[in-house]
Amino acid sequence: MPIQKVGVVGCGLMGSGIAQVAAQSGFATVVREVSQEVLDKGLKGIEKNLARLVEKGTITEAARGEIRGRLTGTTKLEDFKDCDVVVEAIIEQLPVKRELYAALDGICKPATIFASNTSSLTIIEMATATKRPQRFVGLHFFNPVPVMKLVEVVKSIATDDAVYEEMVEFGAKLGKTPVRASDSTGFIVNRLLVPYLLDAIRALEEGAGSITDIDNSMKLGCGYPMGPFTLLDFVGLDTTYYIADIMFNEFRERRFAPPPLLKRMVLAGWNGRKSGRGFYDYADPTNPKASNL
Ligand code: 3HC
Repeated sequence: MPIQKVGVVGCGLMGSGIAQVAAQSGFATVVREVSQEVLDKGLKGIEKNLARLVEKGTITEAARGEIRGRLTGTTKLEDFKDCDVVVEAIIEQLPVKRELYAALDGICKPATIFASNTSSLTIIEMATATKRPQRFVGLHFFNPVPVMKLVEVVKSIATDDAVYEEMVEFGAKLGKTPVRASDSTGFIVNRLLVPYLLDAIRALEEGAGSITDIDNSMKLGCGYPMGPFTLLDFVGLDTTYYIADIMFNEFRERRFAPPPLLKRMVLAGWNGRKSGRGFYDYADPTNPKASNL
């Protein structure tokens, strides 16, 4: 049976983007949050994105109506019972994820495929919370999900080959370029991206250059869309710290070790754009000023 109905657990930054992309790609989509308030906030973000696409002429008004018609918000996990795929994008805490998957396992039909958007946990440690580890993959999207063209499709040692191929195809149906990744911590992108971001912080700590000069160097010298500090603020310093810490514990290599400055900033609550301050100060969001660190 082809995939028709997609469930998305979590309507935060990543979950709302995944739900938007699934509905835009023609799938009946149900997205769940823990409270109506958080759900409404996520759905409002999707509405805003769709309105922008209509304004730019990327989609028609009629298409927006159809996309909205395919998308349902809920606070109940039971609404996932007839989904063909459930993509999870909740907080990166293993016990919370395992509890969710155990509950979903009891609710969803046996054929439902589970896919985690985790960026740092291994797939097998979540899959074993269910009785269907063979129908469990990683689907790692990138922020902002509607714009970034990549999805890492992660195969655990227990994933069934046919299920895996179906999910690679599903990634393509979502309009993304799927890449095949093994269940190794950080997969492909974060294995390369995290040491680069941490190295930028070490370069700053060692006085190689200022925040703006390091950002401009990589942006203008290498053609990256954002310099490393702008990207760190965009991804979130807490998120980067958390991923780096897991990768360091896994590989015990210095290149994954969170630098002291990153830790101090996270302790200060300077988590980047979302908290109004990180390597830049966003008091005026249209004109961020480099922080005095
Ligand atoms: N949602 C939807 N659309 C968005 C958006 C958002 N949050 N932000 C920007 N866009 C759209 C704009 O509408 C615009 O669309 P258009 O070309 O059709 O008009 C397009 O993206 C470009 O936006 P802007 O012109 O405003 O700005 P930029 O050209 O600077 O692009 C960017 C913004 C796409 C965010 C670009 O700066 C970029 O690619 N940055 C790097 C992002 C990145 O590296 N992401 C990966 C992070 S790592 C990760 O997610 C993994 C995790 O595990 C850590």
